[in-house]
Amino acid sequence: MCGIIGIVDKKNCINDLISSLSRLEYRGYDSAGIATLNKNKFVLNKSKGKLSNLRLKIKQKKIMGNIGIGHTRWATHGKPSNDNAHPFLKKNCAIVHNGIIENYSDIKKSLANHKTNYQSSTDTEVVAELMNYLIEEGASPLESMKEITSRIEGNYALVFLVKSSNNLYFSRKGSPLVVGISKTFKCVASDTLALPNKVDNIIYLEEGDIGEIGLDRANIFDRSFNLKENQIHKHSSMQEHTTKRNFKHFMIKEIHYQSKSIDDTLLNFAKKNDEKIYLPQFKFDTKKIDNLSLVACGTAFHACMVSKYWFEEISKINTMVEIASEYRYRENSINKKTLGILVSQSGETMDTIKCLEKMKKQKIHTASIVNVLGSSLSRNSDYIFPTIAGPEIGVASTKAFTAQLTVLALLSLHIAQKKSVIDNKLKKITNEMFKISKNVNSIMKDKKIYMEIAKDLLDSKSIFYVGRGTMYPLALEGALKLKEITYKHCEGYAAGELKHGPLALIEDSVPVIVLAPFDKYFKKTMSNIQEIKARGGEIILITDSEGSKNSENLADKLICLPKSNFITAPIIYSIPVQLIAYYLATLLGTDVDQPRNLAKSVTVE
Ligand code: F6R
Repeated sequence: MCGIIGIVDKKNCINDLISSLSRLEYRGYDSAGIATLNKNKFVLNKSKGKLSNLRLKIKQKKIMGNIGIGHTRWATHGKPSNDNAHPFLKKNCAIVHNGIIENYSDIKKSLANHKTNYQSSTDTEVVAELMNYLIEEGASPLESMKEITSRIEGNYALVFLVKSSNNLYFSRKGSPLVVGISKTFKCVASDTLALPNKVDNIIYLEEGDIGEIGLDRANIFDRSFNLKENQIHKHSSMQEHTTKRNFKHFMIKEIHYQSKSIDDTLLNFAKKNDEKIYLPQFKFDTKKIDNLSLVACGTAFHACMVSKYWFEEISKINTMVEIASEYRYRENSINKKTLGILVSQSGETMDTIKCLEKMKKQKIHTASIVNVLGSSLSRNSDYIFPTIAGPEIGVASTKAFTAQLTVLALLSLHIAQKKSVIDNKLKKITNEMFKISKNVNSIMKDKKIYMEIAKDLLDSKSIFYVGRGTMYPLALEGALKLKEITYKHCEGYAAGELKHGPLALIEDSVPVIVLAPFDKYFKKTMSNIQEIKARGGEIILITDSEGSKNSENLADKLICLPKSNFITAPIIYSIPVQLIAYYLATLLGTDVDQPRNLAKSVTVE
């Protein structure tokens, strides 16, 4: 899937253009190019194949320019070649484009009486000729953009470099674009990951927006050409993630950060009030995939387990989830209709990498969900769906987990849409997902209750987490978090499974943390609570207001969370689970960020 970067800087922007393109490599591409304007002369460089070819070309030439555009192309119209690579250069402008211009042959015909010079077989070059013509006719770049967007049909993110102008011009419809701003610098990109580190703030463009950026401006107009007041989002630098600031531990900082990382991950692939998910496109027909095979370790495995409920219920696709260290040595019945999905924060977990190798030998399509771009998994799988959580420093995974859930939820919606099994509910569901960050913030405002629960758990020898549906894997995750940072014995169970054995361990005052939003499982979970109570167990119920009304006073302690739904619940319920482990660990004085015997990246078998 193509990638775009455009930069306006006080300094030479070539290095930033190239490093942004390298961060876009994960989307898959077959050629790359950049165009800059230096002393009002265009300089164009493009190369078929890997970015290293373009790098080599540029190194030999010593190119300059404070303003430029760059592109990684994934062929749609016209084969991969130097001629078909972007940018396209005309007398007055250069263009990069993501998407497909459906009526390009009509536009080509409409320009038949004017001087044109097509070099490629792409739909994009037609738009370049149109812009060139409009400018030649005396229209300003912004007027030309307005005219172009009224004439072209299809999906696009377009960025133009215009002769005699110090600004970049752009528009989007059906393909994402984001503007990055700092005091000395502006840029526009198809993806937040492509933004240079020095960006302080971000504006996410909406459907139909037209804009211009220059050193002194960042103007965005809506489709009726009214100047907009934009919502500015903070962009986190690498340093932001690697310093504790005022927090005692990285873990609590990362728990707090989730309102942002969930939003950033969402915004990278979806927009509010939009009917589409913008994940990197598969080169195969999604309808031909009839089963998924998800593989991961530890917390990432729990994220996969949650997603099985989504994939099977929302996307109507058979889903197998397996621990990587088991998957790699087992005979399995994978077939050509399987999509293998590897989930990993680090992208370097040895067992998960070995599963990718096994899947590749089995010649199935592979996709990875990783937090570290450029990691082994991301380099070697066919498709990458990044989590936008930023570097995670605490050994116990928190923000990467909820970002993995966010990507998995979007992937299940995406597949459901491709298979036409979701009707017109997608917009409603994604809009609900955009409310998660507000809910996370409201939970974080009331942390006292988690400190109190941690105090109650201080002397317990053994603790249980139970839940049904997506709350079952979350119970496993709660138990894992507690074990790894408090060193206390804690087990996670499917609530309905207690009576098949573990109930024998429930006696007076054994704490059982029950995860139970008021959903279709709630009543069943209540019956399990009765069984625990009857054996003297102490119930800590985490639910919502409806659940609390219907809990028949069975809970010894009750935490009331905001209302949630099938998709948002596991993400929202992750926060209390993480806070309970964190506050208990701080009371016990364990090494929260670097628990004993554990490592952040497990690169051994
Ligand atoms: C637990 C935790 C681990 C990791 C596991 C996989 O808090 O962080 O269980 O989830 O080691 O690591 P990645 O996701 O890097 O493959």
